[in-house]
Amino acid sequence: MLLLAIETSCDDTATAVVRDGCGVLASVATNQDAFHAKYGGIVPEIASRRHVALLSAAVEDALERAQLNFADIDGIAVTRGPGLIGSLVVGVAAAKAYAFALQKPLYAVNHLHGHVFAPFLDRPQAPPYPLLALLVSGGHSQLVAVESATQMRILGRTHDDAAGEAYDKTARLIGLPYPGGPALDALAQRGDPRAIAFPRHRPPGDSLDLSFSGLKTSVRYFLESEAGRSAAREDVAASFQAAVVDQLMSRLKAAYERASYNAVVLSGGVAANSALQSSFRAWAQSNGIAAFIPPPKYCTDNAAMIAAAAHYQGEAVHADPLTLTADPNLPFELPTCHPEERAQRASRRAASRRRRLS
Ligand code: KG4
Ligand code: ZN
Repeated sequence: MLLLAIETSCDDTATAVVRDGCGVLASVATNQDAFHAKYGGIVPEIASRRHVALLSAAVEDALERAQLNFADIDGIAVTRGPGLIGSLVVGVAAAKAYAFALQKPLYAVNHLHGHVFAPFLDRPQAPPYPLLALLVSGGHSQLVAVESATQMRILGRTHDDAAGEAYDKTARLIGLPYPGGPALDALAQRGDPRAIAFPRHRPPGDSLDLSFSGLKTSVRYFLESEAGRSAAREDVAASFQAAVVDQLMSRLKAAYERASYNAVVLSGGVAANSALQSSFRAWAQSNGIAAFIPPPKYCTDNAAMIAAAAHYQGEAVHADPLTLTADPNLPFELPTCHPEERAQRASRRAASRRRRLS
């Protein structure tokens, strides 16, 4: 199955053509950073206007790179949510139009489910369920038990800043340009992670929740203190990074101890972080755990991962091009749908397709 995928949940206008959920024939991501940099963060109105300007060209570019035409595509996959409403609406409206005009099935995917499947792009292996996934991005940070392509449960999450948000805000405090995550990561590699003892958040009881706002605030207080004014920026960056990685790894290890998993997954923009990757790999290797991390181009937002999720979730995310709406607060868990009900829906759709074609 060849899917054309569209992802516009935030500030990247991304498109892709993917075969059978893993063979990426083309993945196009037009970066909007230059338009947001001077504001120090993403401006939603600018993001949605850039999506309008760029999306059709990004779709044509993906098809051209894959050396295919619209007629070769078997379906359209699109991010339905969560994300910025103005941005999501542009992608969803375009996907509905393509699906309706081409009379091809439409799949409406949860952006975070895309991150779960990103590590399985460009490799022949299907996800070996059950998986334990640590999703860390600019908007979300959560631990997820993935029982199957459609059964996923959040085990713990942040109730304040996401890990990527903490990176971006702390980078700004240190004086690094937007987007701060990669710049802070690079700076931290030249610093001493033990130089400053920033606090590690501990959730109450046996909770697996995360929190980064206290850490960000202590970096701010430290930078305003006398010691902070003379501290090397490299050391501040490395010590902040060590606190983030410690917190994420301690929650991941605790979650892993509580159930049986075939593999662990690290995904989302912050999964590109060098220190997090090496701690994750070292822990998995020393415990004989199969570990999956996407290459950097699939850690951050991309449309190929949306095609992968659509491929694995199939019927459960099949949508009607005439009624689908974007949902900025799309719940993480898919509504449960009985297999029999799914089969009935599939046969009703096949019948209506036959009627349209006759
Ligand atoms: O998944 P993503 O592309 O977008 C969201 O869905 O949010 O994640 C973007 C986030 C940004 O906050 C960015 O600073 C962070 O991922 N990021 C990193 C690194 N590369 C990207 N954070 C830490 N280290 C990195 N190397
Ligand atoms: Zn994302």
